[in-house]
Amino acid sequence: MFLLKSCLITGAGSGLGKEFALLYSQKGYHVHLAGRNTDKLSAVQQEIEKAGGAATIHTIDLQQPEAIERLTASFRENGQNLSRLINNAGIGIFGPFSDMTLTDIETTFSTNVYGPILLTKACLPLMAEEGTVINIISTAGLRGKKYETIYCASKFALRGFTESLQKEYEESSVRFVAAYMGGMNTPFWEDSDYVKDPSGLPLPKEIAEQIVREAEDKLEIIIET
Ligand SMILES: NC(=O)c1ccc[n+]([C@@H]2O[C@H](COP(=O)([O-])OP(=O)(O)OC[C@H]3O[C@@H](n4cnc5c(N)ncnc54)[C@H](OP(=O)(O)O)[C@@H]3O)[C@@H](O)[C@H]2O)c1
Repeated sequence: MFLLKSCLITGAGSGLGKEFALLYSQKGYHVHLAGRNTDKLSAVQQEIEKAGGAATIHTIDLQQPEAIERLTASFRENGQNLSRLINNAGIGIFGPFSDMTLTDIETTFSTNVYGPILLTKACLPLMAEEGTVINIISTAGLRGKKYETIYCASKFALRGFTESLQKEYEESSVRFVAAYMGGMNTPFWEDSDYVKDPSGLPLPKEIAEQIVREAEDKLEIIIET
């Protein structure tokens, strides 16, 4: 028997996902933290529990469809309902299009597109009573950008997925929110020299606060930074 409303957040060990986890926990949700790095997820879990909240960690690579199936099967077996799913995990590989390898393309699409699509499909039956799916896209899903070909293509795909679901589920109790934001100061840029100094960009906390607030009554959130 689960008394708290539950929220599943991918990429919850850092950046924007971590801020979503802290905010939804403060709002009284039991937060399910998903990502590949258990240490990062554990640190967020500890922070939530120290503040009196509740969180469960799920170490999962969203590039593996069978891992998504295992996670959601365990939710089904435990009678776990979800009222929020935040498809936040994402990667970016930047540079001239001619340098992009098949591996770059496959890794980007399996993380940014197939992962959210398969997870959403598997989570919808867990949102029987009501639910909101928030897809974290990017302004790269609104317009093409130089040296961002594969990233933009993946985020346009996530946008198309979200907008289509908004129409297909219009009459249902599940809502689909598309969130588009510009650059943020997060670990996203750590292994890349594409943005050498992200320190001038907004912190993810303020972006997460705006998304959590606006997702209650909007289906499209655009935050140009
Ligand atoms: N930072 C920006 O300027 C910016 C701007 C617009 C949009 N965004 C979008 O915002 C979202 C969050 O990014 P962020 O800026 O907060 O960067 P971040 O701190 O790097 O967060 C991305 C998260 O995704 C997780 N992740 C990556 N690959 C994964 C996989 N295969 N399976 C499971 N989890 C995976 C990572 O966790 P693990 O390493 O533990 O797996 C990480 O916690 C992304 O979708 C990104 O595209 C970012």
